[in-house]
Amino acid sequence: MQVIESVLEMQRWADQQRGHGRRIGFVPTMGYLHRGHLSLVEIARSRADSVVVSIFVNPLQFGANEDFQRYPRDLEGDRCKLESVAVDALFLPRSDEFYPPGFQTQVEVERVTRGLCGVSRPTHFRGVTTVVAKLFLAVKPHVAVFGLKDFQQLVTIRRMVRDLNFDVEIVPAPIVREPDGLAMSSRNAYLSPEERHAARGIFEALTRAHAAFAAGERAAQRLRDVAADHLSAAPLTRIDYVEVVDAETLEPVQTVERPAVVAVAAFVGSTRLIDNCLLDPAGVAQPATQQPIAVSHFEQCVTEGNG
Ligand code: PAJ
Repeated sequence: MQVIESVLEMQRWADQQRGHGRRIGFVPTMGYLHRGHLSLVEIARSRADSVVVSIFVNPLQFGANEDFQRYPRDLEGDRCKLESVAVDALFLPRSDEFYPPGFQTQVEVERVTRGLCGVSRPTHFRGVTTVVAKLFLAVKPHVAVFGLKDFQQLVTIRRMVRDLNFDVEIVPAPIVREPDGLAMSSRNAYLSPEERHAARGIFEALTRAHAAFAAGERAAQRLRDVAADHLSAAPLTRIDYVEVVDAETLEPVQTVERPAVVAVAAFVGSTRLIDNCLLDPAGVAQPATQQPIAVSHFEQCVTEGNG
């Protein structure tokens, strides 16, 4: 696995791959990798010839009082995991090169970033779109994979790609969950054992809303309340939002007649977690707790308990 730290070197590597007719698949991450990230790598591999993963804890997408400084990092473990799934190149941009003194250019997607997480994190998505645009210009991918777990992020990136004519195919990846349903997240590492136990309430709440939907309920407010009522009763948990929104526009809906998502953000202790569940009137398959992924030597790389 080639480790690349400079933007110029990354661009030359990408040019070389393209010169040889190889399609580049890209998975941007902030590291502290778990099986969710690795499932994205598998998807990228199935759609490209060379796979690039980036690890960059992007200061621009963290608010002033958020967890940028203490965001979990484990570069050694991450490298081992990526080698075990045969990633071709690991891009580790340096912050001083990515955001040089005088940096003043950002990419902002407007409407879809206003609601949901945009309410409590007003500058977050601008940071995400700016860094992803920069990563695309460095890695020059044909295809990039983003997890459905960060649903609003996926919709936002799709919008950016369309609006700015990026020549990149955006591929969504299913949410990978722990056996009890908790969506895998680097931030789960913050949870105490009691909080980790309580955090299962988020998936339970989504499952209940989904069950009501599968039983025929189409009133968004009632579906929302099913999830919110369960979550309000969960220990150590404080709701940031529970909303039923259109899966494309992210606008609130009254009745679920087209694909919608129940989106949740909740603090468990002081850790803010997000999750969501698709409500598709065309097919009401249960949300799976776990997708099998073929990740061969991954288990050997657990250096700090981030399995
Ligand atoms: P990060 O939180 O590291 O996530 C990287 C990618 O992994 C995102 O596309 C995210 O949706 C996906 N992902 C995380 N947990 C997942 C899970 N349980 N199942 C499936 N996919 C999952 O998202 C970011 O980093 C950053 O905002 C980034 C896009 C890298 C820009 O800085």
